[in-house]
Amino acid sequence: MQSYIGPEEVLKKREQYFYPCTSYFYRNPPQLVKGEMQYVYGHDGKRYTDFFAGVSVVASGHCNPEIAERTAEQLRMLQHTSTIYLTQPNVDLAERLSGVLPGELRRTFFVNSGSEANEGALLLARMHTGRRGFLALEQGLHGRTYLTMSVTGLQMWRTDPQLAHDTDVTFIPRPYERGLSADEAARRSIAALAAALAEKGDTFAAMIAEPIQGNAGIIAPADWYFAEVKRLLEQHGVLLIADEIQTGFGRTGRMFAMDRYGVTPDILTMAKALGSGIPVAGFATTDVIAASLNRPSASTFGGNPVSSVTALAVLDYIEAHRLPDRAERLGELLRGGAGLMLGAELCAEEPARGAKLVDDVLEAMLDRGYIIGKNGVNRNVLAFQPPLVIAEDDVRGMLDALEAVLAELV
Ligand SMILES: Cc1ncc(COP(=O)(O)O)c(C=O)c1O
Repeated sequence: MQSYIGPEEVLKKREQYFYPCTSYFYRNPPQLVKGEMQYVYGHDGKRYTDFFAGVSVVASGHCNPEIAERTAEQLRMLQHTSTIYLTQPNVDLAERLSGVLPGELRRTFFVNSGSEANEGALLLARMHTGRRGFLALEQGLHGRTYLTMSVTGLQMWRTDPQLAHDTDVTFIPRPYERGLSADEAARRSIAALAAALAEKGDTFAAMIAEPIQGNAGIIAPADWYFAEVKRLLEQHGVLLIADEIQTGFGRTGRMFAMDRYGVTPDILTMAKALGSGIPVAGFATTDVIAASLNRPSASTFGGNPVSSVTALAVLDYIEAHRLPDRAERLGELLRGGAGLMLGAELCAEEPARGAKLVDDVLEAMLDRGYIIGKNGVNRNVLAFQPPLVIAEDDVRGMLDALEAVLAELV
């Protein structure tokens, strides 16, 4: 058996060599050493069923053998060239994506992370419209670069108190508020959007939004909301950027969450599940909008052969195993709702107590062999975003364990 330094030593090294901003879940976290589809293993051999998927990433499973084999094959054949040389995997991937992307979205620029994909999408919107401003939803999360952090509404992730692009961003209340129905909250959001557009609609290049807010507590707006957003934006020539970084590739029971809303965005950003653990991301758009990104731009690693082949293998796997349907079906089992993306807020009226309780639940679930996530504006939301390959028995087992844990703790 391989020897590991163990969690205490890992923590010591993190303390010594990482930045203090790097946090971790659990009071006594395990050292994870192996993954196998919906399971991960600690250094001591303990198996955990993963209900967080590394934050919505390993949708096709940890170390999925069908995908890993193709990744490894490409790794041995050709690793990297950059886009200045011709290779096949990145063009095959772009072509393949054009078949699954909604509407006329046909062209993709490949990058390495969600932040970069959103940064590129915002750049594209500016280049296409010639305008400077952006609209974004309160409590949204779009990344760590300066521009993406500036359109991020969640205070926790606005690391720099003096954000460089703040004056370019107008925030709109999100279509959710405790005490309001989904329709009321959506109407409030739409009214604020309409007012901002009436005031200075011709200054906005784009509105960026997560179809379902992930980090802010897994918030799905009323089903009519995005159609109305799109209609208003179109009246003012403002583009809609759908940040599908958490929601894309089957998680919500459709290939993309915007499909649930019957809306085709002008630009769609993707990352996380596209590589199921290998870094690959991109922003996609129509022929017409893409034509505006014509000054030199390149990404050294974007769409490299290994990540592109992996993404192709992921798309093959999603299709062959009908993961969106599976997500829809298991989502119903998990909550009687749609898709494998669910948040459960604890003690909404006393968020600090809720946050403590969430930590206690995570801890007790870990002891029972389940990894679940947490998020939310007040960090008092239990987050369930398992690999889409999870089995019905895993969901039932987790729900039983959760019931027992909540009965103990509450
Ligand atoms: C909706 C959304 N957008 C963007 C990002 C940033 O992605 P990355 O961490 O890959 O830069 C995240 C990360 O969690 C996200 O959830």
